[in-house]
Order: sequence, then structure tokens, then C-alpha cells
Amino acid sequence: MGQCALACLALTAWALDNGVGHLPPLGYSTWNDLSCSGMSEEGVLSAAESLRRTGLQKRGYVYVNLDDCWQDPLGRDATGRLQADPQRFPSGMHGLSKTLHERGFKFGVYTDRGRRTCAGREGSQGFETLDAQTFAEWGVDFVKEDNCRSLSGPNNKSELFAQFALFRDALNKTGTPIFFSVCGGGDQLPFSNLTYYASDERGGKKLANSWRITSDVTGSWTLRFAYKVDASLREYAGPGGFNDPDMLLGSSPGAARRLGPHQSRTQFSLWAILMAPMLLGADVRQLTPFDLETYSNEEVLKVSQDSFAQQGSLLTVKGSTSLWGRPLVDGAWAVLFLNEGWFWKRKVTCSKRCWSKMSFKRNSTVHLQDLWSQWLPHSDIGVGQASRAAQASGAGLVGQVAQTLQGADGVGRTWSLRWKLAGAAC
Ligand code: GLA
Repeated sequence: MGQCALACLALTAWALDNGVGHLPPLGYSTWNDLSCSGMSEEGVLSAAESLRRTGLQKRGYVYVNLDDCWQDPLGRDATGRLQADPQRFPSGMHGLSKTLHERGFKFGVYTDRGRRTCAGREGSQGFETLDAQTFAEWGVDFVKEDNCRSLSGPNNKSELFAQFALFRDALNKTGTPIFFSVCGGGDQLPFSNLTYYASDERGGKKLANSWRITSDVTGSWTLRFAYKVDASLREYAGPGGFNDPDMLLGSSPGAARRLGPHQSRTQFSLWAILMAPMLLGADVRQLTPFDLETYSNEEVLKVSQDSFAQQGSLLTVKGSTSLWGRPLVDGAWAVLFLNEGWFWKRKVTCSKRCWSKMSFKRNSTVHLQDLWSQWLPHSDIGVGQASRAAQASGAGLVGQVAQTLQGADGVGRTWSLRWKLAGAAC
């Protein structure tokens, strides 16, 4: 480990005292896929089976998270406890949790800080202690708490932070390690900027293991909005606490929320650089071969799961192009070359300014590894030549590194390549 890495690690404290979430969670969430109408035990188990069959489970995608609409539409049971919709979840939550655990998965559920969830099911307001206990008894590993139907609207900070903290404390009191994911997104308008969840002194790592920073990502525009918001929030993330720019969309043609294939790959690479939770929102039963390749890329997953646990950020921007970088535990940097241009090719160059933002020693040789080269057909890369090594000098480099990137599929998609720069650390 580089000296910088050690120094920084010494400064980082664990987020909640719950011992989970040192690294971003990898898994699947039902919302974009099953929504409310498709929620069922069968649907959840078949998604889990697909994670196993495709090898994604082995690559680390172990969280199977039930989003809204698992709850009984008729409400709580006679003792006031939350219960599953008996028609759709015949084994109940405890039974489903047991099955998923036996199959090597972790089990996530969803609730809301208001009286009702966004889809109108039973929320946790006033029942925080009981619900946290119930979740712990079911063996829940992950709780997402949403922000709908609250008393004074979605943005009343004193109310929202107090209510989310009630659930955090209730979960902590159970003594069970449960990843706590706060979702300020519910009841927010599209393109809502929720940076205060990271920056407020009652938010960030004090509050949760992850916190949504924008409203839902539903397509390419909201995707761009989310990563641009995330670019300014690097300092708030660390081991055990992550900015959450929402789920990975995928590019399955039939999905209600989807990206183009290269956009989807770009989202995956960027989410790794941004140390974001990697929760698949796509229909994992019918992933396109391209998306499966994307999500299976072990080199990029290693970046996501890098134990240094430092979020990356924007290094430089020039017109429609930008460079993003994340420091890794061995002193290397993961760098993403991005062209957001619509049709045209653009040369993306790591300039002196870009190099000065990374911690490489004066005059050291920096080796480059294209983390996608084994995955992309040559024709996709063949729009430019990148140098394979460059020399660091002073604040910058003697030799620049450039890659020409084409607007992905000719219809305004982003396109990216990533390089791992392994050089002597500062
Ligand atoms: C909100 C959240 C989504 C999802 C739905 C469920 O919109 O932002 O992620 O949980 O509620 O109703």
C-alpha cells in the first residue's frame, strides 16, 4: 500500500457503529424491474437464481433487495407488526430470507419514514423500534428507508434527519449488523438535488451506510444529472458510507427504465469510480449478453470494491469530454475517459492539470491497463491509439495520454474507456 493510502486510511473513521458496509454493496433491487405489479416471491427467487446462473453471484452480487410493495396491502398484523403480502409472498419474509440465505445471498427490505410508502403500503413512522426488531428477527441484512408521505413534506430537514435517525438507532439497538440505506428520493421531483443528505452534519456517514443524492435515475438525462451531482461529494464518502446515485439501469430493450448499451457500460464504470452501491435494477433474467459482460468485468469490480474505499471524482472537463479518477489501495489510479458528445469523435486527453490531480511521483513511468480491452470488440476501440506508458514529470507528465472516443451508438450516448495507472505513489 502506498504511503498516501496508509495516511488516508488512518484518518477515516467507520460510519455507523454497525460493522457493515465497509465496501459498496453489490446485488439486485426489485424496483426498476418488478416495480409494484410484478412483486412476488417467485419473481424474487427467479432473479436470485439468475444471479447464480449467470455467475454474477460469484462475482459478488449477493444482495437481493426487495423494494416497495412486499408489504401486505391490508396493513400490519394484529400485534402491529409489518407482514408480507400473503398472496404474493406465501412463505412470508422469514421464509424468503431463510431460502435466500441458504442459497448464499443477503436479504434486503424496504420501508419508509412516513406513515405510508411511496406506493401506499404501510410505512414505519411511529413503529421504528418494532420494525427494526422485526427486520432483525427475519434475518434482514439491508434496509432501505424511503422519504414519502411524511408529515411536512420531503425536504423538512429537521424532521427528516430526526426520523431517519430514529430508524438508524432502532437498527443499531437490535445488535444485528444491517446495512442502512437512506433514500431521500421518494416524493421528490425529477432532477432533485439531494446533496444535503451527504453534507449536512446530521447526514452522511453519521446517519447511514448510503444516502441517495438525487431523485430516481430513469434514463440518460437523470443519469448525467446524478453523476454530476456526485462529482462534488467525494469528501463525504468513505469506508462504511457511500453517496448513492441510484441503481444500475442496464440496457434491456424491454425495460421501462433503461440506457443504451454503451451508456449502461459507462454507468457501471463511473459507479465504480464513484464508489457507488452497485445494485442492478435490470431484469436479471433477461440481461443482454452485452450487459452481462459489462457487469461481469472483474477489473472494474475490483475498482468498485477497492479496500482503500476512497471515492473518485472529476479530474478535468473539456467541452463534452471529461476525465474521472479514483485512487486505489496499491497506489494506482482508476481513470475514466468520457465523451458525452452525441455523434462526434472527441480526443480525450489527460493533460498536465489532469495528471497533477493524481499522486504520481516525479519522473516515474506510469503503466496503463485498459480495463475494457478484453471485452470490447476491436472495432469499438479502433477510433484512436493510446500510448501504453507515459512519464510523470513535476506536476504533470512529459507524455500525455489520449484516447479518441466516439459518441457511443451514434445517437447521443456516452462512451468510456478506463485505464488503471500503476505508478509509484506520492
Ligand atoms: C421512490 C424511490 C425509488 C423506489 C420507489 C418505491 O421513488 O426513490 O427508489 O424505492 O420510491 O415506491
